[in-house]
Amino acid sequence: MIETKHKKNKEYTKGPHLVLIGFMGSGKTSIGRSLSYKLKRAFYDTDKMIEEKEGMTISEMFAVKGEKYFRGLETDTLRQIREDKIPRIYSLGGGTPVGLQNQPLIKTIGTVVYLRLSPEEVWERLKGDTTRPLLQCDDPLAKIRNLMKLRSPAYERCADIIIDNGSKERDAVIAEILNKLEDRGWEIPPESFINASKSDDTEKNE
Ligand code: S3P
Repeated sequence: MIETKHKKNKEYTKGPHLVLIGFMGSGKTSIGRSLSYKLKRAFYDTDKMIEEKEGMTISEMFAVKGEKYFRGLETDTLRQIREDKIPRIYSLGGGTPVGLQNQPLIKTIGTVVYLRLSPEEVWERLKGDTTRPLLQCDDPLAKIRNLMKLRSPAYERCADIIIDNGSKERDAVIAEILNKLEDRGWEIPPESFINASKSDDTEKNE
């Protein structure tokens, strides 16, 4: 019995990474955490990885070192993920797919799920948020609309799967993602399967 479990454990550590992309506030962290449980693999947030490496928050990085410096670190992180042989779930920062050099990297890393929301839905979720330096401006909703217009083509180019994550319940979104992964040949572990994968426990305002 134990041996069988061990065998299954190995089986579920195969396959491509799952990569979550989408605008700020699109639900990448909360969906990533739920998928981590369902897919029995660890979840990592690349912003958090960068913050840990640099020893400062993204806001501090923008203020002290500048956005360009941060964008360079995003590309470095994608290269690092590409070398990671254990399949995981990675959530990327909202601006990562926009970098032209990042797009081919993202596409080679794994299966890419784009969580799509309207600008108004994003605004509803991020009103009052102070952790996104790009939205600390006089008219954040106008900024969201502009950025979304500019970025949507990049998100769509990178995506293997597009999910509208505006008004649906989280469980429905998870079920939709799992169905679409199965359609692409992914094997979804049974609920009873247990492994020791450790998740990134980032607390993030979404
Ligand atoms: C950014 C999104 C943020 C973070 C940084 C820049 C962006 O990540 O990387 O503030 O350019 O959209 P989230 O999408 O996880 O909020």
